[in-house]
Amino acid sequence: MNAKIHPQDTGIGIVGLGLMGSSIIASLLALGYPVKAIAPIHGEKEIGYKRILEQLLLCEKFNILSAPVDEYMALLTVSAEYDELKECGLVVECIVENLAIKETVFKKIAAISKKDAILASNTSAIPISILQKAVPDPQRFIGIHWAEPAFATRFLEIICGNQTSEATTDAVVKLAMTWGKEPTVLKKDVRGFITNRLMYAVYREILHLVEKDHTSFTDADKCFRYNAGSWMTLMGIFRRMDYEGLKDYFAAYINIFPLLSNSDDISPQMQKIVDTHSRGIQNGKGFYSYTRQEALQWSQAFSEFNKDIFHLAANYPERVNGEHTKS
Ligand SMILES: NC(=O)c1ccc[n+]([C@@H]2O[C@H](COP(=O)([O-])OP(=O)(O)OC[C@H]3O[C@@H](n4cnc5c(N)ncnc54)[C@H](O)[C@@H]3O)[C@@H](O)[C@H]2O)c1
Repeated sequence: MNAKIHPQDTGIGIVGLGLMGSSIIASLLALGYPVKAIAPIHGEKEIGYKRILEQLLLCEKFNILSAPVDEYMALLTVSAEYDELKECGLVVECIVENLAIKETVFKKIAAISKKDAILASNTSAIPISILQKAVPDPQRFIGIHWAEPAFATRFLEIICGNQTSEATTDAVVKLAMTWGKEPTVLKKDVRGFITNRLMYAVYREILHLVEKDHTSFTDADKCFRYNAGSWMTLMGIFRRMDYEGLKDYFAAYINIFPLLSNSDDISPQMQKIVDTHSRGIQNGKGFYSYTRQEALQWSQAFSEFNKDIFHLAANYPERVNGEHTKS
């Protein structure tokens, strides 16, 4: 297959205009790509358009754009028709995390897209090996997992399914580098991929400690922010262990591993969250509660913080070993 995709010429297709879809679209527009956005839900075109515009206005506020917002919006086509995808070199599905719905959508995408187009899913946790069975040429199918806000995060996890070809993976890695990302490749699509899998180990442990009443949510958050938060972006995990000298890690593993939670049960706190339909900042109810104003402030602070970290992360490792691409 021809994995030399030129989406700068052919455009990138994004299916789904929710939180992630709009965020990814805005980040690609900001990079100068023509984007064909598909709104699969009736009535979503207008709200999707508005969400994308809001994200681009944020990019403008953060001095990421070199032309007026209108010029970037002119690169965008929003449609309910999958037909719009027929020239795209890359199509990324970004719809609800539901296997059956994603399979139906991929059948529609595969039926219309070019024979050498790369098809990708932004799924957080559905195995790519399962999803790629929905398309006739699974070699051209891959996971591309973004983090939000997509224009201000270096993270991009590329996930291979059993049948993904090396050419497809290489093409996506190369493309991601041109987007200013620091792509990581997961050769086997283990459940949760890399980042979510790691974080679920942390979520289980902290819920366990809080439920045992050993600490509070607020103190747990403080620990994480001011301890892990002070080294994570700079060092990652393995360099952190090297930095600390490694000497005590072995003894700590022996002593601590048997004490960590390995429960398969849903935590009562999480059960309560589900039972009370709490959706965090989306409806003001979660581990904390939020007024609309506070929810908005958290969203804005998160985008701004990511923008700052994006630049900060480019500076430091480069000073040490030139690992990152400065943008
Ligand atoms: N939210 C995150 O931070 C995040 C991060 C990485 C990956 N993801 C993944 O990205 C995907 C989208 O997540 P999101 O947070 O943008 O969700 P969302 O709920 O904000 O948006 C979902 C979108 O799915 C589409 N959709 C809904 N029902 C549909 C149907 N029946 N048929 C076709 N399309 C339908 C609509 O466009 C809707 O806006 C999911 O697979 C999610 O796991 C989310």
